[in-house]
Amino acid sequence: MNSSTETDAAETLWALILGASRLARTGALATEMASSFALRDGPAPELRPVPAEHQDAAIAWSPRDGWQLRTTPLADPLRALAELYLPLCKPLSEGHVVFAHLGQSIDSCVATASGDSCYVTGDENLRHLHRMRALSDAVLVGTETAACDNPRLTTRMVRGENPVRIILDRRRRLRADLGIFTDGVAETWLVCDQTRLAAPGPVPKRGRLIGVPTRDGRLDLMILAGKVAELGLRRLFIEGGGATVSAFVAANLVDRLQVAIAPLLIGGGRAGLSPPASDRLRNAIYPRCRIYRMGRDILYDMDMRHPREGRTDRPPSGLERIV
Ligand SMILES: NC(=O)c1ccc[n+]([C@@H]2O[C@H](COP(=O)([O-])OP(=O)(O)OC[C@H]3O[C@@H](n4cnc5c(N)ncnc54)[C@H](OP(=O)(O)O)[C@@H]3O)[C@@H](O)[C@H]2O)c1
Repeated sequence: MNSSTETDAAETLWALILGASRLARTGALATEMASSFALRDGPAPELRPVPAEHQDAAIAWSPRDGWQLRTTPLADPLRALAELYLPLCKPLSEGHVVFAHLGQSIDSCVATASGDSCYVTGDENLRHLHRMRALSDAVLVGTETAACDNPRLTTRMVRGENPVRIILDRRRRLRADLGIFTDGVAETWLVCDQTRLAAPGPVPKRGRLIGVPTRDGRLDLMILAGKVAELGLRRLFIEGGGATVSAFVAANLVDRLQVAIAPLLIGGGRAGLSPPASDRLRNAIYPRCRIYRMGRDILYDMDMRHPREGRTDRPPSGLERIV
């Protein structure tokens, strides 16, 4: 495949993934029976039901196997695109699903001590973040990330709708002129301690202010996830920083944890993932994992709901140079 054909094929596949995500999120998919779909492409790609043998049938849903492409892409990068994102488009029968990502240096930092994090990982991982946002109802970041990065948290690098932006600000200490509060390109939901709802502080131009109780001086994340799910945001993408992702992991709220490791040594920077301590290695969390190369970065994509039985599985053997 030459590179422009490959780009076209990747765009079509991404449109299919967006269509699957959209259908799963609307609740219109009959999850208990198998069905086939063709792509109705456009600014917001949609799937339309067709008979399984229809010539335009491009993707199928089945309760047992989830989403399956009718013509399986045989080679990377298309195979990786399908394998990484289609499992995230499963319909939810109840509750919420939480994805989380951190881009860390070899020495487990997400930024320098002063908060400089642009960029720990490279362009391909950045594009991945925008794709994750497009497949989520909301992208959530901690107070320090909002303060240090003044992020936009949009999907501007890929096709797909901007998610709602959820910002933790327990004490309502963030500056009111941050882009997330003023740009209006997507809704921003600001989450504070419920006792501070009437306190002075920023209020998003588009969005809402939500109060949540605190536990041990931190926002109670379990209550937060339940509350935003009740309000319709059931697919949450936690994008950082290290303290926030670690707190979601410690609360056992993360279903899929993605850590991208960059070949970079920061030294004494802001800490990356720091889960609760395990006393013995056999008690450590050892999730089922797939590994993807993104430029020079390596993404570990971990299914936190299917831990392995200790380190007894048999990974692929042998030595292989991947870059
Ligand atoms: N490389 C990456 O993937 C990546 C991604 C995002 C950000 N970053 C970088 O990471 C740095 C910020 O990360 P960080 O770890 O220092 O901070 P953070 O996770 O962005 O924010 C932590 C703050 O959020 C507030 N918070 C409220 N409820 C919380 C809870 N339940 N658990 C934890 N925190 C809660 C706390 O502030 P209060 O005490 O005021 O409540 C806490 O200090 C920035 O430099 C940013 O540029 C890197």
